[in-house]
Amino acid sequence: MSKSVLITGGAKRIGKSIAEVLWTKGWNIILHYRSSSKDAMSLVNNFNSKRADSAFAIKADLDDPKEVEKLVADTLKCYGSLDALINNASTFFPTPISEINDKNWEALINSNLKAPIFLIAGLAGAIDKNKGNIINITDINVERGLANHSIYIAAKAGLDAITKVFARDLSPNIRVNAIAPGAILEPPGVSWTKEQKQKIIRKVPLKKMGDETDISNAVLFLIESDYVTGQIINVDGGKSII
Ligand SMILES: NC(=O)c1ccc[n+]([C@@H]2O[C@H](COP(=O)([O-])OP(=O)(O)OC[C@H]3O[C@@H](n4cnc5c(N)ncnc54)[C@H](OP(=O)(O)O)[C@@H]3O)[C@@H](O)[C@H]2O)c1
Repeated sequence: MSKSVLITGGAKRIGKSIAEVLWTKGWNIILHYRSSSKDAMSLVNNFNSKRADSAFAIKADLDDPKEVEKLVADTLKCYGSLDALINNASTFFPTPISEINDKNWEALINSNLKAPIFLIAGLAGAIDKNKGNIINITDINVERGLANHSIYIAAKAGLDAITKVFARDLSPNIRVNAIAPGAILEPPGVSWTKEQKQKIIRKVPLKKMGDETDISNAVLFLIESDYVTGQIINVDGGKSII
């Protein structure tokens, strides 16, 4: 029987690429989305047209604890079991000192840290039965800090930290790892100029931006690496070593 995975924020960009790579490897995909219903339905319909019942889409706002709870229940109904959870969904925006407030705290902490913890708690029992995987998508910028992004970085640093805690708590049946992307895609809705891109690339030893498949291939590597747990893999073209 095919294995099944829940991918949060899976309708577009990196989440979509993770879905495509795992689906191509024969996995059944449970694709979570919030507002990108058109993209989510198009991807799921495409998967199902090529392999019947190989994908579901579930809508949930990760800012709402009740919807997170329902996402857990709905996920378990899809295939009756679960092999992997990829915590990929993320809200990203700057919070300079003047914009540090409760509203921004909630918006950034919920999707990047709180929901991943609650999804892990809700789904660990099912994943344990299948000796499965949890992968958290964090951010290379945790290592050095990202100017004007204190709340986002605090959330991702928390996600790095809980990766190690859950790797201990959920061993030996579940492996829990994280991937820290470097410069992969422009933030949603942002278009960097050629000069801005060149400035970023100058700081990357491999002298190029990454793309979505660099992250989805790392997901596959972790899923297939039976002796790796509690690790944060930097996928950043070497940016973190200079
Ligand atoms: N892009 C990069 O270069 C880069 C660099 C470092 C780290 N990362 C990390 O890699 C992961 C994927 O990056 P990305 O750029 O592909 O992500 P993204 O496009 O910014 O976000 C992925 C999805 O997260 C969902 N989402 C955000 N807030 C949500 C909420 N409150 N409730 C439910 N869903 C929510 C959105 O779904 P809907 O569209 O359906 O609303 C969105 O499409 C993220 O964890 C990000 O932090 C990316």
